[in-house]
Amino acid sequence: MDLSTSYLGLALRSPLVASSSPLTGDLDGLRRLEDAGAAAVVLPSLFEEQLTAESFEVDHMLDTGAGSFGEALSYFPEHGDYHLGADQYLDLIRAAKEALDLPVIGSLNGTTVGGWLEHAGLIQQAGADALELNLYVVAADPDVCSRDLEEGHRELVSAVRRSVDIPVAVKLGPFYTAFAHTARELVACGADGLVLFNRFYQPELDLETLEVRPHLVLSRSEEMRLPLRWIAILRGRIEASLAATTGVHTAADVLKLLLAGADVTMMASALLEEGPDHLRRVEREVVEWLETREYSSVGQLRGSVSQESTRDPAAFERANYMSVLRSYSSPRHL
Ligand SMILES: Cc1cc2nc3c(=O)[nH]c(=O)nc-3n(C[C@H](O)[C@H](O)[C@H](O)COP(=O)(O)O)c2cc1C
Repeated sequence: MDLSTSYLGLALRSPLVASSSPLTGDLDGLRRLEDAGAAAVVLPSLFEEQLTAESFEVDHMLDTGAGSFGEALSYFPEHGDYHLGADQYLDLIRAAKEALDLPVIGSLNGTTVGGWLEHAGLIQQAGADALELNLYVVAADPDVCSRDLEEGHRELVSAVRRSVDIPVAVKLGPFYTAFAHTARELVACGADGLVLFNRFYQPELDLETLEVRPHLVLSRSEEMRLPLRWIAILRGRIEASLAATTGVHTAADVLKLLLAGADVTMMASALLEEGPDHLRRVEREVVEWLETREYSSVGQLRGSVSQESTRDPAAFERANYMSVLRSYSSPRHL
């Protein structure tokens, strides 16, 4: 079965990619992912504020949940172990490039344009095959409107695009009023790919201590329907690679996202729960499904149920709303 896939112009052995997570944060995890068949790996994000953590007392902010750094870093329950400083991060890229045969994608989350540009350049120099810009933003300032915020994103993507030669992907959250437009604009600014969607981690309130604390819940398969819809809508409408992240757990999830038009599917939660070998099982089941239906490559099915190709394009839009509501049948015991 020909699983070969092109993502950001990189030739991959399959569409199964390991997303940023603690598993991709050290060489041992990366080796295990390669052995299990990962087609590429995305390293954890290098956070700009992490580089100046001491002066900003990030740990304190994380613990109290205050400040914008706390928002961004609330991903990480064990941030002390998980986060690497810039030097360690660049060493990890170099070591991964030396030890592994698969493409290594660096990831960056900055706070200032200067910071994004400097570290994008360093990640390229260290040998990363591509760069993922992790635009994790909690738009909490009432003085900042969506137009300004999105303009900032566009400027940032253009500036990074101009400053490096390696392919650049942009990882976004789903909370935009006109997402299809936002996506097209980011591609016009030079994004080679879009990674849909980042998960937003909501803070938890502890009723005993009355403190706000980070609380990470791993995803479930149902959550892949959000990227499924948007990938189906964008497929064929923008000139960029499309990666699906959030809720990719099973072979069925992978197949559906490929049918919708994803170039690659990325996993984090499933690999953290099941271990890297889960990738091997998923790949085997994807191949079995394709063989049973007499496909000879993933290329043949990719995008065949995108909005552009499906017999029922309305299923991805508002027209679907009423039929979804009507499709609910109450449990008998009520
Ligand atoms: C513990 C943990 C750490 C993560 N760290 C990062 C990170 O550093 N950068 C990033 O862009 N995404 C990070 N993510 C998000 C994942 O890469 C992924 O996009 C998200 O979890 C949705 O995919 P999933 O449903 O397969 O978990 C992290 C996720 C988890 C669970």
